[in-house]
Amino acid sequence: MSNNYQVQNLPDYFKQYKKSIKNPKKFWDKIADENFVWYQRWSKVLEYDMESANIKWFKNAKLNITKNCLDRHLSTRGDKTAIIFEPNNPEEEARYISYQELYDEVGKMANVLQSQGVKKGDRVVIYLPMIPELAITMLACARLGAIHSVVFAGFSSSAVSSRINDCDAKVVVTSDGSYRGAKTLDLKSIVDEALDKSPQVEKVLVVKRTNQAVKMKEGRDFWLDELLEKAPKDFVSVIMDAEDPLFILYTSGSTGKPKGMVHTTAGYMVYIGYTFKNVFNYQENDVYWCTADIGWITGHSYILYGPLLNGATTVIFEGVPTYPQPDRFWEVIEKHKVTQFYTAPTAIRSLAKESVEWVDKHDLSSLKVIGSVGEPINEEAWHWYNDQIGKKKCPIVDTWWQTETGGILISPLPFVTPTKPTYATLPLPGIQPVLMNEKRIEITENQQNGNLCIRFPWPGIARTIWGDHQRYIDTYFKAFPGKYFTGDGALRDEVGYYRITGRVDDVIIVSGHNLGTAPIEDSINEHPAVAESAIVGYPHDVKGNALYGYVMLKEVGEDRDKENLRKEINHLISEQIGPIAKLDKIQFVSSLPKTRSGKIMRRILRKIAEGDFSNFGDTSTLLNPEIVDEIKNQRIN
Ligand code: WTA
Repeated sequence: MSNNYQVQNLPDYFKQYKKSIKNPKKFWDKIADENFVWYQRWSKVLEYDMESANIKWFKNAKLNITKNCLDRHLSTRGDKTAIIFEPNNPEEEARYISYQELYDEVGKMANVLQSQGVKKGDRVVIYLPMIPELAITMLACARLGAIHSVVFAGFSSSAVSSRINDCDAKVVVTSDGSYRGAKTLDLKSIVDEALDKSPQVEKVLVVKRTNQAVKMKEGRDFWLDELLEKAPKDFVSVIMDAEDPLFILYTSGSTGKPKGMVHTTAGYMVYIGYTFKNVFNYQENDVYWCTADIGWITGHSYILYGPLLNGATTVIFEGVPTYPQPDRFWEVIEKHKVTQFYTAPTAIRSLAKESVEWVDKHDLSSLKVIGSVGEPINEEAWHWYNDQIGKKKCPIVDTWWQTETGGILISPLPFVTPTKPTYATLPLPGIQPVLMNEKRIEITENQQNGNLCIRFPWPGIARTIWGDHQRYIDTYFKAFPGKYFTGDGALRDEVGYYRITGRVDDVIIVSGHNLGTAPIEDSINEHPAVAESAIVGYPHDVKGNALYGYVMLKEVGEDRDKENLRKEINHLISEQIGPIAKLDKIQFVSSLPKTRSGKIMRRILRKIAEGDFSNFGDTSTLLNPEIVDEIKNQRIN
């Protein structure tokens, strides 16, 4: 990939940004043309209608994303490491997979899938741990035009089967088991259980990872290594239309059924290639590491596709941050001389609780850029990350985006945009954020809060919800006609920087005052005894809503006067936000119900605060479902 799409400095950013808004089609046309390989060029850069949520980028173009990720690098980067695989157990050797080897493996896997009957347009569900085979299978699907749907390998069997059924997959790729920290999980038996409810699945291909005993069903289940052994390496990539689906990825909705977000081929490729290069300031010999799981959009876009589109070296880490000890991240950075490190605030906060000696044991001087994604990063965590990990010399890219957006929309560009703690700062070129008030009127002034919408389509936007376009329209294009509604609230400061304040549904109106839960939680978290907290509203006779706080202390079982702690917490809030934001009830909990991607499931906390235990909805995405009963039983009346 040529270097000509990297923004150089702040004036260059403003120049690029202006161009991208004035003439978005011209802007993306040039990027697509100069930085990617195509079988056939597009007849039209963009065709769209926001009302019917009909969006087509690079109409009639023909391509295959794997030619862009693999084939075109072979002559210049064939021996370069594409993937560094760092296993769960540090005693096991890391694997270095070159672009040539990756190309060969993907070709073999595509041949295997084809021989098992997979064709262009078929859906393949992938339920694998963070091992190279996961990346290889996704790329093999893309190479032959099958639509991959990766299901995070921590989901329960019912979540797996509902996803298989929603997209009607006939083939599942899984492994015997997976390693996670000190634990081994039985992935194959979870799939077996799922398939009781998904009888349409014809083939299950099983990777050997843990070598544990598993049941293999004759005629349905096959060991992948045996099939790969006989498969040829070459597989001519299938010609895809720009708008052919590349993958489906499920994301939880505010209610019930998960939404299968559909991303298509050309627009996604162009947007992810461009944003990876710019947001991480990727340079040719860098070693890039994103700690997300590939089962989430962050992993799809910024472990796999973004890095490979740019011929980068990307780390795939199988383990967890605290195994065997709480310095695993820092050890891996030192070991592989990682230059870009991208993680989540929840990981930062949990590691910041550990002694800083774990960090100081390691040489982190290779780092150039550090990133954050997934939720607002609070001020305390931002400073710890900046001071202890970035050593005040690595810009923090606080990247705001969503499964639906495909790639990063608002983020500082390192060495270009001056950072500001807790601010995602400025939109990337091509992105037009707008703040809307409750009356659906655009807020044009700065220093205001509003509902964050995006005015104009960008190439990476999801095109639909699998099998339910109406739900797509209703969820994202109805609330503010003519715009994409993100569901997030944001504050724009005096210079136009954006700070994401959290989901709009987290806003609680108390006595007519709009209160965001995030700033209240931030101030509670500043109390030295507090590890984490979550605020929800519950109905109140006089105020409309009152505030209920769930507070997790740093040391469990500590002999502290709880009444006193409650007073101190409210005093802090009172001081920092105002007495209006004081909590009516504070419950101390041993942990908070979290999804596997680290988000607090407020829906459940809200119900408990309201005293409504009737139906907690879908809890299949919870990491720690057992906590729900504890919180319920200790609820404050
Ligand atoms: C939140 C993850 C604040 C936000 C890529 C968004 C953030 C939701 C940030 C999407 C950030 C993500 N600052 N909030 N830097 N990044 N979010 O679909 O509420 O798992 O709407 O995509 O995460 O979560 P998703």
